[in-house]
Amino acid sequence: MSTILITGCSSGYGLAAARLFLDRGWNVVATMRAPRPDLLPASERLRILPLDVTDRDAIATTIADAGPIDVLVNNAGIGAAVPVELTTPETARALFETNTLGTLAMTQAVLPEFRRRRAGVVVNVTSTVTLRPLPLVGVYSASKAAVNAFTESLAVEVASFGVRVHLVLPGRSPETRFGDNARPHVRGLDDPDYAPMLEGFAVAINDRSGPITHPVDVAEAIWYAATDPAAPRRIAAGADAEEWMAAAE
Ligand SMILES: NC(=O)c1ccc[n+]([C@@H]2O[C@H](COP(=O)([O-])OP(=O)(O)OC[C@H]3O[C@@H](n4cnc5c(N)ncnc54)[C@H](OP(=O)(O)O)[C@@H]3O)[C@@H](O)[C@H]2O)c1
Repeated sequence: MSTILITGCSSGYGLAAARLFLDRGWNVVATMRAPRPDLLPASERLRILPLDVTDRDAIATTIADAGPIDVLVNNAGIGAAVPVELTTPETARALFETNTLGTLAMTQAVLPEFRRRRAGVVVNVTSTVTLRPLPLVGVYSASKAAVNAFTESLAVEVASFGVRVHLVLPGRSPETRFGDNARPHVRGLDDPDYAPMLEGFAVAINDRSGPITHPVDVAEAIWYAATDPAAPRRIAAGADAEEWMAAAE
């Protein structure tokens, strides 16, 4: 039976992915900063381990405690809707520490074993905001575009070792805690130049009238990457994401 380790399972896409793999008979190691066993159905195939992906020691401990895994999903991430000009060093650092360096460190932690076994799949969750220029997500997008870049090089590096590496690019989801978690980083509401942009963004991010991404779309895209050796390197997740990917190609 195959085992998947997923980061950031306390809500949103990570939680949906943990549920889907459990439902389909996999062993699931669901990691969370603050473990909440009540979020997932009790199962002898489920382990919930504490993990903050910005903590190198915690990564080593969690990977050791998890034992052999077949698939790593780097899903943990934070957002920030803030003009580039007003992005604080703390926000920029938090975005890169979590989204980029956390993903890199987790990937590096599993690769020795994947390479030794000549098997394993890494799935990095980035974002379709990397596909077109949008206001207010500049540094967030940079943190995810960096993951796209190193993931695509890595995929080439490790293909001959039997290790597959994929990117899942979700679209916008008003159904996760992403928007709420991004709120502390907002700056510029008191600036007459940026305030209208921020107010428009706050409305647009919760708009459900057009195509959006549902957490299960991301879970299905991760499933595709994990189970189909012919899956493409970049997989769009969500109706809006598919439109954006098609337009970018
Ligand atoms: N929602 C969107 O519109 C959207 C669009 C494109 C891409 N994405 C990406 O999709 C991924 C999942 O986002 P989501 O929408 O499901 O948002 P979410 O509901 O806020 O979930 C994010 C998860 O990441 C965890 N996390 C944050 N910082 C962490 C850290 N340092 N260490 C470990 N876990 C950490 C959160 O845990 P806590 O509960 O501890 O905070 C939470 O479990 C993210 O990488 C995000 O950038 C989201």
